[in-house]
Amino acid sequence: MIEHPKARVAVLISGGGTNLQAILDKEQAGELPHAEIALVVSSSEKAYGLVRAEKAGVEAVTIRGKDFEERLIALLEEREIDLIVLAGFLKILSADFVRRYPKRILNVHPSLIPSFCGDGFYGLHVHEAALEYGVKVTGATVHFVNEVTDGGEIIAQKAVAVEEGDTPEVLQQRVMKEAEHILLPQAVEDVARDIVERRA
Ligand code: GAR
Repeated sequence: MIEHPKARVAVLISGGGTNLQAILDKEQAGELPHAEIALVVSSSEKAYGLVRAEKAGVEAVTIRGKDFEERLIALLEEREIDLIVLAGFLKILSADFVRRYPKRILNVHPSLIPSFCGDGFYGLHVHEAALEYGVKVTGATVHFVNEVTDGGEIIAQKAVAVEEGDTPEVLQQRVMKEAEHILLPQAVEDVARDIVERRA
C-alpha cells in the first residue's frame, strides 16, 4: 500500500455544506498542510454541498438507503480514508460504525456542549432552543464522535454572543461564521497532523 504524505479526509454532509466549504477554502489556501480532502459523502442527492465538492474537484458520492453504513465503510476503505468529518451530517451513525473509528471521526455541533445537544438537537433546532431558553452566550463545539450523540471528547469550543432581536436563522449564521467555520478546519488540521506524525 502507498504511504500517503497527508491524512486522507472524508467529509460527510446532508445539506448546504458551508462547513465543507470552509474546509475546502482552507485547503485551497494552503492552511491544511497535513490534510487532503479526498472524498465527500452525502446522505441526500439534493445537498448543495455536493456541488461545492464538484467545484473543488473532490469526488462526491451520495449514499442512501438501508445498507448506508455497509456501503460507506466499503468506500472509506477503498479510498484509504484516515479521518471522517461530520459537517452538518444529520444521520446518526450506529455504535458499531463509530467503534470502528476511535478518535477518527470529528463532528461540529452548533452550541457549547453540554448545552443544547443530544438527540433531536440539530441544525436550526439548536438555535431555537438556545433563544427559547434565553442564553446570552452560545457557540460551537468540535468533538470526537463516540457512541453517545454529541458525547465524545471535546476538541475545541468557541463562544458567540446572542444579540437582542436574534432569530434562529440570524443566530445560526453568526455561529457558523464566527465559530464553526474557524474551529472545524483548524481541528481537521490538528487531528490530521497527529495522524501523520504517528505514522512517522
Ligand atoms: C451546521 O450548523 C452544523 O453545526 C449543524 O448543521 C449545520 C450544517 O450546515 N450540525 C448539527 O446540528 C449536528 N448535530 P452546513 O451544511 O452549511 O455545514
